Amino acid sequence: MAKKKSVLDFARMKKDHEQVAWITAYDFPMASFAEQAGMDMILVGDSLGMVVLGYSSTIPVTMDDCISHCQAVRRGAPNTWVIGDMPFMSYQKSDEEAVENAGRFLKEADMDCVKLEGGRRVASRIRAITNAGMLVMGHIGLTPQSSGQLGGFKAQGRDVSSARELIKDALAVQEAGAYSLLLEAVPPELTKFIQNKLDIPVYSIGAGPCDGQLLICGDMLGLFQAFTPKFVKQYANVAEIETNALKEYINDVRTGKFPTDDHVYHIKDSIEDFQRLFGEFE
Ligand code: KIV
Repeated sequence: MAKKKSVLDFARMKKDHEQVAWITAYDFPMASFAEQAGMDMILVGDSLGMVVLGYSSTIPVTMDDCISHCQAVRRGAPNTWVIGDMPFMSYQKSDEEAVENAGRFLKEADMDCVKLEGGRRVASRIRAITNAGMLVMGHIGLTPQSSGQLGGFKAQGRDVSSARELIKDALAVQEAGAYSLLLEAVPPELTKFIQNKLDIPVYSIGAGPCDGQLLICGDMLGLFQAFTPKFVKQYANVAEIETNALKEYINDVRTGKFPTDDHVYHIKDSIEDFQRLFGEFE
């Protein structure tokens, strides 16, 4: 089994131009598969609200939802770097509340670090959590929790003035003490610039080549059917596999093809003994 990576490994990997592969996971089986596959790290994203809880956005996701899913993921991937994603309104109000909620991810769910969305406007939160001894990953570009303000799930930094704001945000996140930064849905030219400008690892989801790549497991495995962003490469169609398996099962039950003799527990005493037993109740 590969040794669990640390923050030092991720810093070295950036220096050595070694790519980090990571996905989201929300439950024990997915986390086990990710660890068995050799994933470098796992994000328990608040996207769990859309992928597994059926909400139309990440906004309703609570701290308790996140903690419970993080605990399941940690049980499934005890030797993988796992990031707990801070849900909407768990860090927006104050530095104190942000520190307290970040601490819950570490104390209750054994997370290695937390991620939160935003640049300059959350710099004091990043600093406060870091000063409390925890590791923070920043997240800028398309930030789903503020997708309302962005006018939807839209790519960011495509013009010079919004790219300038994102560069300032990236610098502020590093300056506040984040150990890494995630860029979501920004053009590769901007990603390259930010990756080279920052000393910390910079990862991408839909932002082109960088220090590593993240995909949402529901997208890359074809589990999430509501929509598929342009940046997704789909590696399997699990929804189709599952639906076909379920249809076959229904058909087998209805036509008597299941269960067969292979799927039952056979009696240990003779059939005559059993017939005598049944006779006692007639
Ligand atoms: O919740 C999540 O999975 C995320 C990704 C969209 C980056 O934050």
